[in-house]
Amino acid sequence: MKRVLVTGGAGYIGSHTIVELLNNGYAVTSIDNFSNSTSKTFDRIFKLTGKKVKNYNIDLSNHKKLESIFKDQEFDAIIHFAAFKAVGESVHEPLKYYDNNLGSLLGALKIAYNCNAQSIIYSSSATVYDQNEKTPFTEKSNLNPLSPYGMTKKIGEDILFDYFKNNSNLKILSLRYFNPAGAHPSILLGENPKGIPNNLIPIITKSLKEKKSFAVFGNTYKTPDKTCIRDYIHVVDVARAHISALKYLEKKEIRIYDVFNIGTGYGTSVLEIIKAFEKNNSVKLNYSIKGKRQGDVPILLANVKKAKKILSFKIKYTIDDIVKTAWEWEKKNLS
Ligand code: WQD
Repeated sequence: MKRVLVTGGAGYIGSHTIVELLNNGYAVTSIDNFSNSTSKTFDRIFKLTGKKVKNYNIDLSNHKKLESIFKDQEFDAIIHFAAFKAVGESVHEPLKYYDNNLGSLLGALKIAYNCNAQSIIYSSSATVYDQNEKTPFTEKSNLNPLSPYGMTKKIGEDILFDYFKNNSNLKILSLRYFNPAGAHPSILLGENPKGIPNNLIPIITKSLKEKKSFAVFGNTYKTPDKTCIRDYIHVVDVARAHISALKYLEKKEIRIYDVFNIGTGYGTSVLEIIKAFEKNNSVKLNYSIKGKRQGDVPILLANVKKAKKILSFKIKYTIDDIVKTAWEWEKKNLS
């Protein structure tokens, strides 16, 4: 059985990925200090899979402690999710982001080195691209992250590439996620942001639950309905992409560093999300059109040909699944 260490295992994408890993026969260990998640997630993973996951509650920036804990362990692969991810917050607290996101990546790499993990999958983001590049973005599109959060993801990719160049047997993939959304179909796992949510779909579900209004940022964009278009991908599909990535690395005989877009290739506008949400959940949303949000571009889509061809990755879930599961999850109110 292949042994995988997941960092940020109680987090939104981490927890969904652990379920897919366990269901595909991998043995999973996790590191999560619950800075933006809850330990109850592991009980729900057990409920879903019948399998227990050992979690180490430590900060990945604490390299000394990592060394003693993982002294005698071995892993085949590390999937590194643990990071702060609020774009807006990163602008106001850049050092917090550089400190945490880079410190935790270095911690994960030290574990990979000490535990002989030859495969590393890194959680990167579409936010690394130059937003003024022609969309859909391919993996060759220019990079130019605007926020400190985006910079940490790009620097993370650079660190991995430098590390790769000096190692004779490493296999590393950076996965650039577009807009992950939705919850597990069992409604046992989902996104649970502490404080005010940052992304459109959790903002919608929270405002509906609290009977408040939310803002649509701008309706004068050059798009068919004049609102921004994004590439929303169901979180279980994002999780499944990691299984495709691992299986690809397992087949690969030689060392490799590569980058893949993880999206759907389909665009959905803010108003289309609102309509799909209302239709699928038989609710009426309360929103008002506000000014454009700084930094937003009209259309941001993934070109997903590379992941389809090389990783054989195909999506399973639709926008309808995203909005339905997101609302079911919010209603269920698991914390
Ligand atoms: C989606 C659309 C908004 C809130 C960010 C990160 C990216 C990735 C995903 C992780 C936009 C509109 C939003 C609201 C709105 N994350 N909107 N009202 O900005 O595409 O991408 O999250 O790596 O890196 O940059 O996602 O969910 O914030 O916005 O109208 O209250 O919804 O203008 O068009 P974004 P988002």
